Amino acid sequence: MQMFVVEGEKRLGGEIKVQGAKNSALPLIAAALLAKGETVLHNCPRLSDVFAACRILGCLGCDCTVLGNTVTVRADEPCGCCVPDELMREMRSSIVFLGAVLGRTGECYLSFPGGCELGPRPIDMHLSALRKMGADISERYGMLRCSSPGGLRGADIQLPFPSVGATENTMLAAVLAEGTTVIKNAAREPEIADLAGFLNKCGARIEGAGSDTVVIRGVKTLTGCEYSVMPDRIAAATLMSAAAVTGGELSLIGARASDLGAVIPVFEEMGCSVYTYSDRIYVCRSRPLCSVKMIRTMPFPGFPTDAQAPVMAALTKAAGTGVIVENIFENRFRHVDELVRMGADIKTEGKVAVINGVSRLYGARTVAADLRGGAALVTAALAAEGVSEIEGIRFIDRGYESLEKQLASVGADIKRVTK
Ligand code: UD1
Repeated sequence: MQMFVVEGEKRLGGEIKVQGAKNSALPLIAAALLAKGETVLHNCPRLSDVFAACRILGCLGCDCTVLGNTVTVRADEPCGCCVPDELMREMRSSIVFLGAVLGRTGECYLSFPGGCELGPRPIDMHLSALRKMGADISERYGMLRCSSPGGLRGADIQLPFPSVGATENTMLAAVLAEGTTVIKNAAREPEIADLAGFLNKCGARIEGAGSDTVVIRGVKTLTGCEYSVMPDRIAAATLMSAAAVTGGELSLIGARASDLGAVIPVFEEMGCSVYTYSDRIYVCRSRPLCSVKMIRTMPFPGFPTDAQAPVMAALTKAAGTGVIVENIFENRFRHVDELVRMGADIKTEGKVAVINGVSRLYGARTVAADLRGGAALVTAALAAEGVSEIEGIRFIDRGYESLEKQLASVGADIKRVTK
């Protein structure tokens, strides 16, 4: 078993290159299946989910190699359409392969992604969009069997909620479909624009990605290309939380202000100075840490649910009372009890958390229960008096590439220990 051991109260300072975005790399790897020839994806983070996505491509008959941060895919003759159950279980977001496999091969078999750490993870919107495009889908014994014997057809899709995954799956299914697909109430997250950027470079015709209406005109074939995954806005927000809570200063190389429009003002309200440049964001806590009145997680361009936990960790030491309303996922306060063990004063009821700032956090033994909650425990440990041990770091490794090395490079005392 591995854990992080953190000796807190070290002020962070220096430069960190922000990793490539996990939530963009995964749909891009799935999208590579749609293109003939070679696809080269640069700036892919080295994460267990990325390796699982590559293994899925292998099972589908593609060549997929990872060298450093570059993933190379050859998908000339995919010969499979079945995503093995263990890989579906290993990575919940593997559902994004559904649209791509169906679009490329005309059929797809995979197991139903049940609940996950964040609560139930339904895929009704994904399935209803694909059905509207002509897919025949049956759900039995936890398995999904999807086929489109007559090929997929463009359709008008109105999403009841701007789901990121449903928007991505619909786009992936639509690029090679016959005719035009219009997605209304589409997710506007920057990862959607990144996916469209990649697919268009392969020869797709997608307009409006990043707005609430995405129009996809089907084409006959796509050809692989070279593309660089966008920077990870959630990793950037996590590092900003670490700078804020330790009273430090960090230059986040590659972070894009346009992706963090709802996040930057929160840090400014907390007493940080944030300077944005074309190639980096500089964050420095210049005043005492103070609380923010209210954070509501919302679909983009609202405050991202994925940044909620690390920002909450920073708020635990802020003067005053802050309120966080989690509107996206049901089960996203699992870090709260662990933060309380470290001395934080947090009360939750339903989707609301009230954080009363305390002057001290104390090192404790804690267990990460999910990815972003785990990052919150690390953030709090950086500012806690004494030594913290954080278990369950396999969750953290799903989304952060060598978080401990990054933090140690800017002055944190953090080690990965095997017990
Ligand atoms: C993606 C991100 C995740 C992020 C989330 C919201 C990836 C790999 N993951 O997840 O990190 O927290 O966006 O920004 O990119 N829903 C339904 N039915 C559906 C689909 C979704 O009810 O068919 C609900 C979900 O349960 C959730 C909400 O809609 O409550 C948002 O989900 P969605 O935007 O689809 O998130 P994911 O794509 O799963």
